[in-house]
This record gives sequence, structure tokens and C-alpha cells, in this order.
Amino acid sequence: MNRPVRIAPSILAADYARLGEEVRDVVAAGADWVHLDVMDGHFVPNISFGADVIRALRPHTTAHFDCHLMIAPADPYLEAFARAGCDSLTVHAEAGPHLHRSLQTVRSLGKKAGVSLNPGTPLGVLEEVLDTVDLILVMTVNPGFGGQSFIPAMEDKIRRVRALVGDRPIDIEVDGGIGVDTAATVAKAGANVLVAGSAIFRGGSVEAYRAAIEAIRRPAEAARG
Ligand code: DX5
Ligand code: ZN
Repeated sequence: MNRPVRIAPSILAADYARLGEEVRDVVAAGADWVHLDVMDGHFVPNISFGADVIRALRPHTTAHFDCHLMIAPADPYLEAFARAGCDSLTVHAEAGPHLHRSLQTVRSLGKKAGVSLNPGTPLGVLEEVLDTVDLILVMTVNPGFGGQSFIPAMEDKIRRVRALVGDRPIDIEVDGGIGVDTAATVAKAGANVLVAGSAIFRGGSVEAYRAAIEAIRRPAEAARG
């Protein structure tokens, strides 16, 4: 089954002084999901924002809030992010010893459960949680910063994740260095949710965001056939 292409702009690249407006504008521009990059300065070498900021953004849109937790440990904070209004919560497989428990907790909170793998993490861990996840996030850069270059070796990794997933109802998401030049490659390899930060949040207007989103969506949809 071919899952629909979804474009998920990361507000990591938005204007933090106008976050509510940025969220409204990017959704008006055609974003399917809003990608929320939570960083703790420990699991990744950068700090972004937490559950209180997400709660403040929630009234600005009904779009799916796709929360990427780059924090360790994640378990003590899952409930807070669920209550803040996230629709999916993605934890990193590397972030703690109890991945299965984390995913079960997310589902018990009534949210979609995602697991993310850093570029250097092998796929094997996914085999044990395939029935407990709704989304697999393949990092296509080392997490921590926007504006990095796509790691070409991740194309084959996406393909292998796709094969592992088979017919299961699981979204395959990619994050890092996604833009006009990489959209077709990742979509052809099997990704259907494309996160993009710097490629979308430039230009500062709904029109500019719409053009940037369409420039990613078009080749991705064509590549998926
Ligand atoms: C990286 C974050 C990404 C990042 C993507 O640690 O998880 O979501 O914002 O930014 P770009 O699209 O600029 O590579
Ligand atoms: Zn992310």
C-alpha cells in the first residue's frame, strides 16, 4: 500500500520571535504536518524548546503536531508532551534502554508512536518493535542542527527500512538535508513523510513557503508513482 506523501516543515528553522504566526503561515501554505524538534543539549549538542512552547502553539492550528524528541531520557517527559498537544511522539532508539516501554507508553497516552534511528544506528532494533510503532524516522543527518547536508548512504538505509516494513501501516519519515534536490531520492527509496526546515522557512511569506513546499512535494509524489 502506498501511503500518502506528507510534507512536515520543521519550525527549528522558523522565526522564533513569531512562532505562532509561522505555524499558521506554513499550514496555510500547504504543510501537512508541523515537525517539532525538541533538543536537550545532552542527547544532541543543541537546545531548542520544550512542552510549554508546543502547548502555546497548539491553538494556532489543527494540523498534526509531529514531535521529534531528541532527549535522553525521554520516558519521564512523554506525558507532558502528550498533554501539550502533540499528535505523534517519536523517541530515539539510542536514547534509553527501554525502547519498547517508551513506545507502549506513547500509545497508552493515545498518541502515534514513532522511533528514530541516527545515521550510525543499524536497523536491527526495528525488528523487535515493528508491531508497536506507527512511524519510523530515518535521520538523514546527525541530529542537532538544521541546515546540514543529506548523507547519501541513507538512501540505501531507507530502502532497507521500506523492505522491513512491508505492508504494515507504518509511515517512513526522513529528516535532515531534505529539499528539492533530495526529495525524489528519498521518496523513491520508500519515504512518505518528508521533514524540511531550512528548505521551507526562507522567504518569510506564505507564498514563499507554498512554493518551497510544492517544490518538494512534486518530485516526491512523482517518484512514488
Ligand atoms: C535535525 C532536526 C531536523 C532539522 C532539519 O536535528 O531533527 O528536523 O530541523 O533541518 P534541515 O531541513 O534544515 O536539514
Ligand atoms: Zn527532526
